[in-house]
Amino acid sequence: MALMSLCLSLGLIFLDLEWRSKSVDAIPSYQSICKLVHKAVDCNGRKLSSVPNNLPTNIEELFMDANFVRTLRNGTTQQYANLWRLSLQGNNLEFIESGAFSGNKKLKVLSLQDNSIFVNYLMTANALQSLPALKKLDLSGNYLTEEMAGILFQNLSSLESLSLTRNFIMRLDSTIFENLVQLQELSLEKNYIYEIEEEAFENLRRLQRLNLAYNHIPCIVNFDLTKLEVLNASYNNIEWFLTKDSNANFELETLDLSHNQLLFFPLLPKHNKLRSLLLSDNEMNFYANALNATTSKEGLVKFIFISNNVTNVTSVNLWEDVILGDLSSLEFLDMSKNLLQYLPSGFLHGRKEQAQGSHSPAARVLFRMPAIQPSPFLSSTR
Ligand SMILES: *[C@@H]1O[C@H](CO)[C@@H](O)[C@H](O)[C@H]1NC(C)=O
Ligand SMILES: *[C@@H]1O[C@H](CO)[C@@H](O)[C@H](O)[C@H]1NC(C)=O
Ligand SMILES: *[C@@H]1O[C@H](CO)[C@@H](O)[C@H](O)[C@H]1NC(C)=O
Ligand SMILES: *[C@@H]1O[C@H](CO)[C@@H](O)[C@H](O)[C@H]1NC(C)=O
Ligand SMILES: *[C@@H]1O[C@H](CO)[C@@H](O)[C@H](O)[C@H]1NC(C)=O
Ligand SMILES: *[C@@H]1O[C@H](CO)[C@@H](O)[C@H](O)[C@H]1NC(C)=O
Repeated sequence: MALMSLCLSLGLIFLDLEWRSKSVDAIPSYQSICKLVHKAVDCNGRKLSSVPNNLPTNIEELFMDANFVRTLRNGTTQQYANLWRLSLQGNNLEFIESGAFSGNKKLKVLSLQDNSIFVNYLMTANALQSLPALKKLDLSGNYLTEEMAGILFQNLSSLESLSLTRNFIMRLDSTIFENLVQLQELSLEKNYIYEIEEEAFENLRRLQRLNLAYNHIPCIVNFDLTKLEVLNASYNNIEWFLTKDSNANFELETLDLSHNQLLFFPLLPKHNKLRSLLLSDNEMNFYANALNATTSKEGLVKFIFISNNVTNVTSVNLWEDVILGDLSSLEFLDMSKNLLQYLPSGFLHGRKEQAQGSHSPAARVLFRMPAIQPSPFLSSTR
């Protein structure tokens, strides 16, 4: 980041000098307002109420952040047909006319964070329809509810990255993202999500990174997103994390469940690639020692899943240490700030065997946890 802004300001200085050395006769009017760097125009923070219409028509990037563009009219950016990036952050933008982007078929990146898109979201939805190449869309901080979001993304099947951080989304049903079949990255951080329908991410077969941090999710059950590499569900109210019972290979590498209310170690996919497992600030403990109930019925917890009127009951024996799942690729495990009193004797057993076989320098679990009583685990780690 720092390097990037340095490059940019060096570029600006260079261009300023170049302009000054030119003759005075044909100075375009945008020159005093915006800065041109190669084919990118920087009009950030210039108190503009509309997009300038006299910029070079071959520009490819246009930055209009922190201005006062409340309305984007039809044809405003039409002559900039090569535009692939348009940024209009923090403009209090309310109104994007249906045809506003009709001349911008090459637009790939659209940054609309911190505006008021909720005011006229229907019209904005229409405007977005005309962007066949759109890959990255940022709608953070636009007061959007799940109904608005569902309409805005109805046909955006080219989208690869979507940010909905800081909006008013509470529920995710099966339709809201159903056409985003190319999506690889989705951020829903800092919303009010308390419920996620089982099929909500079903069509997102390419999804690799999902950020659900800072919501009100009470539990994650039947987790079955096999292609997901990073799941961040930190800062929720999660008490249970249960993977769907399956022999599928999960791509999961990073799971952040820190700052929740987990009562038990998460039920992980049997086959995964987990390298980083973040479980700090929860209420986890192991219970086999305390209850001595490994095989008794007292240890069974029944989960009742209700979905489309069908009720399924799944039983999980929570006191069994074998539910720990596959930790053989683990490199970092944070279990600090929990209620742990001991670690089960087989904990990280599978991992250790693999570590001895391969001499990979990374095959070492970094632990972060509070001092606990000496246990079979601690004595076996050398
Ligand atoms: C803007 O363009 C759209 C589609 O091209 C059209 O339906 C709409 O009537 C136009 N709006 C105005 C105010 O011209
Ligand atoms: C999405 O596409 C369908 C079918 O082409 C169309 O009926 C619908 O109006 C479109 N949605 C939006 C928001 O334009
Ligand atoms: C998860 O999101 C929180 C909140 O943005 C962030 O602090 C944390 O670093 C993220 N975790 C990972 C593993 O990136
Ligand atoms: C657990 O049960 C076994 C057999 O029922 C018994 O031998 C053992 O002492 C018990 N342990 C505790 C901690 O109660
Ligand atoms: C669910 O149950 C309600 C009432 O019991 C019924 O009206 C509805 O048709 C059921 N839906 C399905 C999908 O079976
Ligand atoms: C309920 O369980 C049956 C058998 O395990 C399974 O075929 C079915 O898909 C499950 N239904 C739901 C809604 O999970």
